[in-house]
Amino acid sequence: MRPVIIAANWKMHTVPSEAGPLAATIAARTADPDVSRVICPPFVALADVRDALAGTGVAVGAQNVHHELAGAHTGEVSAPMLVGLATWVIVGHSERRRDNGETDELIARKLDRARDAGLRPILCVGEQLAEREAGRAEAVVDGQLRGALAAALRSDAGPAPDLVIAYEPVWAIGTGRNAFGSDAAAMADAIRDTLGRIGFVDGGAGMPILYGGSVTAANIGEFLAEPAIDGALVGGASLKPDEMAGIVGRAGVTARARLAAVG
Ligand code: PGA
Repeated sequence: MRPVIIAANWKMHTVPSEAGPLAATIAARTADPDVSRVICPPFVALADVRDALAGTGVAVGAQNVHHELAGAHTGEVSAPMLVGLATWVIVGHSERRRDNGETDELIARKLDRARDAGLRPILCVGEQLAEREAGRAEAVVDGQLRGALAAALRSDAGPAPDLVIAYEPVWAIGTGRNAFGSDAAAMADAIRDTLGRIGFVDGGAGMPILYGGSVTAANIGEFLAEPAIDGALVGGASLKPDEMAGIVGRAGVTARARLAAVG
C-alpha cells in the first residue's frame, strides 16, 4: 500500500521569524497520523521550521540541493549541510529548471547526493503547455525520468529507495489552472510504465506519485479520487493554514480508505 503524502513547497516566501509560527499553525491544523506531511521552507528558515515542528509528526524538506558535495560554489547548499535540518528534499522543480538551467543530468547528480545523505527526494517532472498541446506530454516526462534516474539504476548504489515523484505540469503551476484528475492519473500510469521499462523492479508499482499545480482544498478531491495519485505537492495554497487543513483533511479520507482496503 502506498502512503498518502501532502508536501508544502513554500518557494521564496516567509522570513525565518514568520516561518516557524506558520509551520506550527499548519501542523496543528493538519494533525492526522495517516497522512505523511512535509513542509519545505526556504533554506534560511529550515532551522526555525525544524524546531517549530518537533514532536508534531510533520517532516521538514529543503527545496533544492547542490549536485556537488562541497567546493567553490558561492551561495550554494550541499546535501551534507542539510543533514539535521531536513529529511526530505525537492529536486528538479520546474522553476529551477527554468530559472537556473537545471538539466536532467544535473538533477541525476542531485538525486545521488540526496540519496547518499539520507534525504528523501521528491523528483519533479512535467511538461510545458506547448508540449501537451503537441501531444508530447508523456514523451517529455518519459525523457525527464530516464535522464534523472537511468544512471542511478545502472550504478551499484541505485536510486534513493524512498524516492517520490511529483508530476507537475508546468502550465498548471501557480496559474490557478489545475490539470484534470483523469489526465494526472493517466500521466501517473505512464510514469510507472517508464519506471518499469527503465528497471525499477516492481515496475514502479510501489512508487508514490504526487500531483502538483494549483492544488487547493477545493480541487484536491479530484486528484485523490484517482487510485494512481498518492498525494500532492502544494505551492501557493500551502502558505494558508485553512487551505492546508482542507487538503490534509481530504487526504486523510483517502489514506483511511486505503488502510481499510488492505484490512
Ligand atoms: P502551485 O505550485 O501549487 O502554486 O501551483 C506547485 C509547485 O510548484 O510545487
